[in-house]
Amino acid sequence: MRKIRLAVMISGRGSNMEAIIKECRKRTAVSEVVLVIADRKDTRGIEIAQRHGIPCEVIPFINRFQFCASASKAVTEHHADLVVLAGLMRILDSTFVNNHATLNIHPSLLPDFPGLHPHRQALAAGVSMSGCTVHWVIPEVDAGPMVAQMTVPVFSNDTEDSLAARILVKEHLLYPLAINIISATILAVWDVALNDR
Ligand code: GRF
Repeated sequence: MRKIRLAVMISGRGSNMEAIIKECRKRTAVSEVVLVIADRKDTRGIEIAQRHGIPCEVIPFINRFQFCASASKAVTEHHADLVVLAGLMRILDSTFVNNHATLNIHPSLLPDFPGLHPHRQALAAGVSMSGCTVHWVIPEVDAGPMVAQMTVPVFSNDTEDSLAARILVKEHLLYPLAINIISATILAVWDVALNDR
């Protein structure tokens, strides 16, 4: 069966990437990770991807134009259908996001607390609930159409670390689930298009 080919982009520890790889290894998976792109070498994420035998490309960030052009070339060469940002600490330009359907996960209930330090922002705002959001990527940071959210409680004695850890558990559930639903939908649309010919 044709699967949706994913290119995952990371900057660091890659725990969301690992959750996605594990989901893709299930017998019922509708997507597969065909490429991991990192903006730096020696990340834990690269180590994990290599351990799983997934091709990795390290594209050091020199400037946004060069980074996005190289990443776009790699995505195209690996015939990826969907780009998945999993902790990439770079902003992609409009050429990239217009050419490649791209998802991101952000550890807050968007539209609240976009950008840097979302857990710190949530604690400072005194909210009683936070969570994570999967959304489509547009050139504006953390502002694209939302796909799915999961919530967690915020406790009065929470620190940034304790809140981040509670949300991360949900991220590892939500991101693979959202990717499955989107991949299954794309496959169904392709099927209908083929049968209509
Ligand atoms: C996650 O909290 C994700 O929501 C954010 O960056 C962090 C990446 O963590 N965009 P990891 O590299 O997936 O462990």
